[in-house]
Amino acid sequence: MDVISVIRTKRDKGELSPEQIDWVIDAYTRGVVADEQMSALAMAILLNGMNRAEIARWTAAMIASGERMNFDALSRPTSDKHSTGGVGDKITLPLAPLVAACGAAVPQLSGRGLGHTGGTLDKLESIPGWRALLSNEEMLHVLDTTGAVICAAGDGLAPADKKLYALRDVTGTVEAIPLIASSIMSKKIAEGTGSLVLDVKVGTGAFMKTIEDARELASTMVQLGTDSGVKTVALLTDMSTPLGLTAGNALEVRESVEVLAGGGPQDVVDLTIALAREMLAAAGIKDADPAKALADGSAMDVWRRMIAAQGGDPDATLPVAREQHVVTAPSTGVLTRLDAYDIGIAAWRLGAGRARKEDPVQAGAGVELHAKPGDTVTAGQPLLTLHTDTPEKFDYALKSLNGSWDIAAPGTGFTANPIVLDRIA
Ligand code: URA
Repeated sequence: MDVISVIRTKRDKGELSPEQIDWVIDAYTRGVVADEQMSALAMAILLNGMNRAEIARWTAAMIASGERMNFDALSRPTSDKHSTGGVGDKITLPLAPLVAACGAAVPQLSGRGLGHTGGTLDKLESIPGWRALLSNEEMLHVLDTTGAVICAAGDGLAPADKKLYALRDVTGTVEAIPLIASSIMSKKIAEGTGSLVLDVKVGTGAFMKTIEDARELASTMVQLGTDSGVKTVALLTDMSTPLGLTAGNALEVRESVEVLAGGGPQDVVDLTIALAREMLAAAGIKDADPAKALADGSAMDVWRRMIAAQGGDPDATLPVAREQHVVTAPSTGVLTRLDAYDIGIAAWRLGAGRARKEDPVQAGAGVELHAKPGDTVTAGQPLLTLHTDTPEKFDYALKSLNGSWDIAAPGTGFTANPIVLDRIA
């Protein structure tokens, strides 16, 4: 087997054989296939696609590159959620303890942010003392004793994906449906969850800009999960505007705690409950009521235990950025658009995200929204507050907020997108 013939097959729109796929993934993981060769293959896949059989084999090869975890010893059924990434997407934070409070075990292996979408681990690391890195034994202990664990995926899980994802990130090959589907599903299947709910984001702030592409990605992932014995369901959800009223690490933790306390923005509450219902149904738990578990404080109790079990202080004051800059509404009327991508870029430029894997993030940096599409705003009122420790970043962040909203004449009718756009099972 040689890598150049594998690259040529895909470059010429051919179908990769199972042997070619197994070999190239294994050889890349071992360093026998070089980064520049894998980049060429990833670009050929992005341009020419893969059929379902190729995607299934590619996913299986990435799973086989590392270890598989097993939660069979737990007394509760497991259910996990994965989001394809969005702006202000803090849903994992209230969702994992909520679903645990309703009777499932939630092993949530999460990532860090790269680019304009935030990462769950970066958000939680703004809680003083909280540790993302756990051994497999520690992870199982937290899961068993609190019902939920959110931590970094260990190096042993789908190492081929770790290497390939980092390469795709710097070679313009992230946005290939076969590569996204196999990347996500290899990690989730290797993780060993019994059921999985996918939150496939659609809109300017998401990888998938159109509902058609999101459907294709969702159905590919649902089929991969189902074929591997993992009960898998996908919700397609709106990412044309940020979720909730914050984008940035500590800002989003604060908002998540508000949701766990029974308040918080309605879109975050609605999506958290919709995903919780799907996770519980997929895990076979029929008689739980997630809305009640939010209202009666039982989800908050699990949150506090889960944070403390990983060294965090749930009562600690969260970091606040040193400097703020308020952006005001230029006219009076109805806010009809507030672009998720632009807000995500602004938060990232303010220091909430990183440009390279090794960059640090600022815990307090980000963007706070004072209005959402559908709200009436008055000229001069605060529309956004930008937060950063490094005020020299304000100008750069403000450049990304050029043309990021529309304000229509007062009284203009407005119909918001529903948060859940479709369901694929
Ligand atoms: N998230 C992943 O884990 N992989 C991708 O390819 C895209 C989003």
